[in-house]
Amino acid sequence: KKGDFDHFMKKEIHEQPGSLTTSMRGRLKDGIVGLGGLKDHMRTIRRSRRIIFIGCGTSFHAALAARPIMEELTDIPVTMEIASDMLDRKALIFKEDTAVFVSQSGETADTLLALEYALENGALCLGVTNTVGSTLARKTHCGVHINAGCEIGVASTKAYTCQIVVMVMIALAIGSDKLSTLAKREDIIAGLTKLPEQVHDVLELDGEMKSLAESLIDEQSLLMFGRGNNYATALEGALKVKEVALMHSEGMLAGEMKHGPLALVDEYLPIIVIATRDDTFRLCNVRDNNSHLFYCFFFLVSSCIIFLFIYSKQQSVIQQLHARKGRLIVMCSKGDASLVCPDGRSRVIEVPQVVDCLQPIINIIPLQLLAYHLTVLRGYNVDQPRNLAKSVTTQ
Ligand code: M6R
Repeated sequence: KKGDFDHFMKKEIHEQPGSLTTSMRGRLKDGIVGLGGLKDHMRTIRRSRRIIFIGCGTSFHAALAARPIMEELTDIPVTMEIASDMLDRKALIFKEDTAVFVSQSGETADTLLALEYALENGALCLGVTNTVGSTLARKTHCGVHINAGCEIGVASTKAYTCQIVVMVMIALAIGSDKLSTLAKREDIIAGLTKLPEQVHDVLELDGEMKSLAESLIDEQSLLMFGRGNNYATALEGALKVKEVALMHSEGMLAGEMKHGPLALVDEYLPIIVIATRDDTFRLCNVRDNNSHLFYCFFFLVSSCIIFLFIYSKQQSVIQQLHARKGRLIVMCSKGDASLVCPDGRSRVIEVPQVVDCLQPIINIIPLQLLAYHLTVLRGYNVDQPRNLAKSVTTQ
């Protein structure tokens, strides 16, 4: 049932504070992450030589968003595979690998074939799915259900944000034996508890996104630039726009801009630049124990370096786009509007700043709303876009 909403997609976007709460329910207690479905395999996962994330479409993007924190908290290299490409290449996979299969439906043909392939090659296979009893849930060795609730709209919205939260919790659970990341893990757990309320606040941007959609209704194309934790946000935002609004849209790694895409920039082509701050800049809690003080100091210094690296790089991307009279829409942290657009010429979307690995969850919400409004204004079917099915069960 759609309730007070005109479409399932809109309902599902607005359900996210609740779906995220359900995803985390019973799994975060007294600062400890408990994931029953992984308990018996945790030793093997921690000893893996590599973690491979495998999925398609939005599920692949969710894994991409979780990749940096998985590497940071586990110290295990993480590689990414789009399921169909993994099969086309017969990619190398070993018994020392942990292969994480991400699929909302748990029935996507390419993902299931990649699972068969990984099982044949002896990898430990872990499933992240929204569908209890799905083929993915049954055939993997272990896994975690995302508990996002039923998603009807073909465009995945609430499953995406719940997938990220679940993969962040998996990273916390795998890395829970490391003292060096204790402060970061505490920050993330505190961030997770506040997240549903902050997502609720971002949903207030609905009207603003409708007005932005009105200004873009007749465009042929829309680019999105992101980097670091938000490269996935750019890819996922662009996928939402193309699949429902039937408008060409491309998500790009901002670091690649000068290697080609810059040629497209002029005063007409709209470009969304995701330039929110990474939370790594925030001071961590100082503790009364000397070894903790050392780790806090170490964490602070490395965090500042990462912050300056990513944030100032995105600032320079904005300057280069401004210099070419680019038509920018900048997504930035609350209070940063004058910093990212000193001349006030660009449109700005301000969002709350949260711990870095959770920022993609906040940042995708305005883009989901934008895709929704663009579709309705352009008169297309928002819940059942042409040529697409909710679950792609053929190769
Ligand atoms: O059920 P899955 O998560 O395995 O589906 C994978 C993709 O087909 C799916 O995410 C698709 O990209 C979405 N419709 C995008 O919104």
